[in-house]
Amino acid sequence: MSIIVAEGVTKRFSSDSRPAVDAVSFAVDPGEFIVLLGPSGCGKTTLLKMINRIYEPTSGQLLIDGVDSRSLPVTHLRRRIGYAIQQTGLFPHFRVEQNIAVVPRLLGWERPRIEARITELLDLVGLPHDFRRRYPRQLSGGQQQRVGLARALAADPAIMLMDEPFGALDAITRARLQDELLHIQRKVHKTILFVTHDIEEALRLADRMMVMNHGQIVQFDTPLTILTRPCTRFVEQLTSANDVLRRLSLLTVASALGRERPPAAGGSADLPPLHPQDDLRFALTQLLGAGESSLPVIDDGREVGRLTLADLRAMLPSTVAGLEGHVPVSGA
Ligand SMILES: Nc1ncnc2c1ncn2[C@@H]1O[C@H](COP(=O)(O)OP(=O)(O)O)[C@@H](O)[C@H]1O
Ligand SMILES: [Mg+2]
Repeated sequence: MSIIVAEGVTKRFSSDSRPAVDAVSFAVDPGEFIVLLGPSGCGKTTLLKMINRIYEPTSGQLLIDGVDSRSLPVTHLRRRIGYAIQQTGLFPHFRVEQNIAVVPRLLGWERPRIEARITELLDLVGLPHDFRRRYPRQLSGGQQQRVGLARALAADPAIMLMDEPFGALDAITRARLQDELLHIQRKVHKTILFVTHDIEEALRLADRMMVMNHGQIVQFDTPLTILTRPCTRFVEQLTSANDVLRRLSLLTVASALGRERPPAAGGSADLPPLHPQDDLRFALTQLLGAGESSLPVIDDGREVGRLTLADLRAMLPSTVAGLEGHVPVSGA
């Protein structure tokens, strides 16, 4: 069952203005990493804030685990929904440990449980234990975001709302935190709604991308589909990386194989194997280098599929088709 369902959710801040969020409907499965992408003012923050009821929808309804969120007490709802924002929202006069412990304290956890949880979270987000006693101003921007993430995760919520959490960080720190967030997500399996206006961040993180414009959802699909089959000119422009190879470098072999592809049979001992997490630019290089029309994808010593040149060609019709002449293509 979907963990979050929106049915015609609309938010108007005043009766005469156009809606900030305009009759959006969507469903999110448990464990999905959803990235909301769109230009400033398109309604991303407003949509998130309706999910944890900082704002109430003007009309429509939001179901959390099948229950109308309006029927849940706000405190109960927020316990199940972690929230992390760009400005971190850390209390400046609280030490790191006090900031992380805010929600567990509200929930009345025993002291030893809170202490253990703080230690566990510092490890999870990659902060040294002796940072516990520091104040936020004694941390770098990236470290403050780690504390913000730890705080949002503290009571182990099923859902995490993250509003441009890395937006104020330099590119290197941001890339590192993106990697760590993916790493953390593989351990904790939250349902994440993550807002950004950075296309590369969206492509790196998302299981599915919700592209918004003027309060509406324009396209809601996998990064692969958004890049290769943009449904409108707006999506195409938003995502058009001018360099196709760069685009390929942003996508993994796993994303091209698709989630349900059954393992292929048969050995292919001498071919250079691909790994699901290899990027497609690397994969293309390997395909061309091997002079093969397909290569096995190996995970944990097991073949989980084959990536074919046809897969790449289907994704990027104009460019990869032009490379066909270099290799024997056997119709996949
Ligand atoms: N509290 C508010 N009061 C009035 N208008 C608001 C408020 N919050 C957001 N808006 C308006 O709603 C629209 C969407 O804003 P927002 O959700 O913050 O966009 P985004 O996060 O995509 O940049 C904008 O036109 C913004 O001015
Ligand atoms: Mg915003």
